[in-house]
Amino acid sequence: MSMNNRLSTSISSSSSAFLGQDRHFKIRPQNVFLPPKNPRICKCVATTPTEKTAYMTKVSRNANMAKLQAGYLFPEIARRRAAHMLKYPDAQVISLGIGDTTEPIPEVITSAMAKRSHGLSTIEGYSGYGAEQGEKLLRAAIASTFYANLGIEEDDIFVSDGAKSDISRLQVLFGSGVTMAVQDPSYPAYVDSSVIMGQTGQYQKDFGYGKIEYMKCTPENGFFPDLSTVSRTDVIFFCSPNNPTGSAATRDQLTQLVQFAKENGSIIVYDSAYALYMSDDNPKSIFEIPGGREVAIETSSFSKYAGFTGVRLGWTVVPKELKFSDGFPVAKDFNRIVCTCFNGASNIAQSGGLACLSPEGLEAMQEVIGFYKENTEIIVETFTSLGFNVYGGKNAPYVWVHFPGQSSWEVFGEILEKTHVVTTPGSGFGPGGEGFVRVSAFGHRANVLEACRRFRELYK
Ligand SMILES: Cc1ncc(COP(=O)(O)O)c(C=O)c1O
Repeated sequence: MSMNNRLSTSISSSSSAFLGQDRHFKIRPQNVFLPPKNPRICKCVATTPTEKTAYMTKVSRNANMAKLQAGYLFPEIARRRAAHMLKYPDAQVISLGIGDTTEPIPEVITSAMAKRSHGLSTIEGYSGYGAEQGEKLLRAAIASTFYANLGIEEDDIFVSDGAKSDISRLQVLFGSGVTMAVQDPSYPAYVDSSVIMGQTGQYQKDFGYGKIEYMKCTPENGFFPDLSTVSRTDVIFFCSPNNPTGSAATRDQLTQLVQFAKENGSIIVYDSAYALYMSDDNPKSIFEIPGGREVAIETSSFSKYAGFTGVRLGWTVVPKELKFSDGFPVAKDFNRIVCTCFNGASNIAQSGGLACLSPEGLEAMQEVIGFYKENTEIIVETFTSLGFNVYGGKNAPYVWVHFPGQSSWEVFGEILEKTHVVTTPGSGFGPGGEGFVRVSAFGHRANVLEACRRFRELYK
């Protein structure tokens, strides 16, 4: 049997055969069908060759857009996956790449959204534009659920349509004149939005964009940057648990970070989108660190907790204590940006968010998170047993696998070609990601098991 034929044989539904007798993972009821529902085929602006058109406007292209390397990482992966599916129309492609959730949203949450949605068809239940900052009840629930006793109040919370849009709105807040530092590797939205804003110089292969301070996070430094070698910047993007490395900073490390920001007069933008995935006893919020409210903004999301990647709901915390160099409160300017660029999160999504934070909703979210964490264990176990150095997984739904000396796009290509599994090349997250591949634990159990079977086949 050829490799491809072998790989497309049917999926075993037995996890115990794969994992050994003593492992019992929860199998949530699910129908698994391999081809992705929505293979997002898109053209990536920066990679599309200039089309010859008869007519051109007189508007010059934003030079910052021209600095961007290739497309945004995930559309680029989607493009390659689509090309692969054209090449192998019968292949059962499994996506452990983009980091999109797959498990259904718990019913306690969808029923709240359905109720709100039906209410919109009634005179009493109808509402139009809401407060740009979000509904009072939801802001209060976010404050009390995630920031109790941390000095964060309801009016410090700005509800949004997701953390990614908030990252861009924060860039608009800071403007083009600031300098920025970022963990290397990290979620690409920080760097790309910074480039678009004009905060950076040109891209240089293997170094990244000029003027960005790349804070190397490697196995050697335990994925926490050596701050003694980091130059001062105005803004420091910091994501913990980190996407893609899956590592989470300890209390001591975050205390160093807050101190570093304070000494330099910098603002930390702390991304805690995966905080609830933490198994270790690390801080779930930067505001757990004394002094955090004077130096940090925190952004987070319901996307990976409740399967809201499509529903769209997140939030950003801007504490009153955070001030610009002239003493002006950052929150007041952010409020102005939000009111100008955004008209508030969907009222249906906000009802869902409120349901997420009810006692039943919190329990249901923990169950979904627990399920993905079991997937993570399966992936970690697979690559570890194959002799790879494997990082992450324990505190985040991402497994960071080392392929020393190899190009991560090449490894991505080889895995896709030979196993029909989509991963994410580490170099897409910054120069420091070269030689790594990120494997996402977001997937139906049977698909994760099948992907791991194929990995074992490939690397045995
Ligand atoms: C670290 C990090 N922040 C933010 C986001 C985006 O979250 P949202 O779906 O709320 O826009 C992601 C999505 O993958 C992420 O990994």
